[in-house]
Amino acid sequence: MRAVVLVGGFGTRLRPLTQSVPKPMLPIGHRPMIARLVDRLARGGVTEVVLALGFRPEPFIEAFPDGRCGEVELTYAVEPEPLDTAGAIRFAADAAGIDDTFVVANGDVMTDLDVAALVAAHRGFGAEATLHLIGVDDPSAFGVVDLSEDGRISAFVEKPTPGTEPSNLINAGTYVFEPSVLDRIVPGAKVSVERDTFQHLVGDGTLYGMATDDYWIDAGRPELYRAANLDLLSDARRFDRCEAVSPSATVAPDATVRNSIIGDHVVVAAGATVVDSVLLPHARIGGRAVVERSLVMGVVGADARLTDSMVGADGIVDDGSVAVGMAIPEPS
Ligand code: GDD
Ligand code: MG
Repeated sequence: MRAVVLVGGFGTRLRPLTQSVPKPMLPIGHRPMIARLVDRLARGGVTEVVLALGFRPEPFIEAFPDGRCGEVELTYAVEPEPLDTAGAIRFAADAAGIDDTFVVANGDVMTDLDVAALVAAHRGFGAEATLHLIGVDDPSAFGVVDLSEDGRISAFVEKPTPGTEPSNLINAGTYVFEPSVLDRIVPGAKVSVERDTFQHLVGDGTLYGMATDDYWIDAGRPELYRAANLDLLSDARRFDRCEAVSPSATVAPDATVRNSIIGDHVVVAAGATVVDSVLLPHARIGGRAVVERSLVMGVVGADARLTDSMVGADGIVDDGSVAVGMAIPEPS
């Protein structure tokens, strides 16, 4: 089975990290987010993935030079301009010649969903499209559905005003589509699958949902990107786990590292403390610095204190300074 994976967003909420690395290439447990996602699709029977890119294909092509990720064959569809979610699905499906039932996935979703079970549910419903659904406490930041007993979706509201959500069941960002869904999307146009295509499917009664209680995170927000990493240190995930410290990192013997991921080629100097944080490849933490609940690609100076912050590849936290809730450098 083939899948279209949407990886063309700008990753705005993860700036400044995404100023040097596109969101799906950011590491989760030392591997690019997209590689973990493709592994999951492969476990569910996907053999070919089309990456729907809005811009900057180079980092993906460099990371997978032979056009494969594990056993899965990768192809690329680069939109001439970002076409939004439905426009991107149509563009990528046309480029790959998709003409059979296929899977669609948002590129920033980390989940233990069994994709084969979603495909089986889709066939059982006789649906035109079937969405994976997850129950959350605050659904207003997502697409929210009203689900009938028979699995049919009777309303889909993208990012509703808090307090007006039809339920707490959200669109979890993995779909199974019949090719007829593609005919509903004008080729080459900028179209949102959530605000446009799903509305038409609801109107025709052909949109279904399967709710599960699998592990699920949209890693596109700083807090959740951090959680998606740290969850690999515990037994939160059904299939995935990772080592806290990359073998290529250098951590001083008297540094303290607690509930954190220390990425490839990172240096943590003497007396530094790193807690509940993710240090991305090549980050440098100075002597006696303290880093808490933060994401770091750049440099944290000696004796600095960084809390609840993000430091991009070009970011430098000056020696001895204190930063709380900051993005460094401040995204322009
Ligand atoms: N190729 C391409 N072109 N991809 C795009 C474009 C585009 O123009 N715009 C967005 N994407 C990709 C993003 O890279 C991401 O992988 C996916 O589409 C979804 O975009 P996000 O920006 O991450 O959307 P969201 O997280 O606010 O909401 C979406 O995901 C939620 C679940 O995580 C929606 O689908 C919600 O309904 C859903 O609940
Ligand atoms: Mg997202």
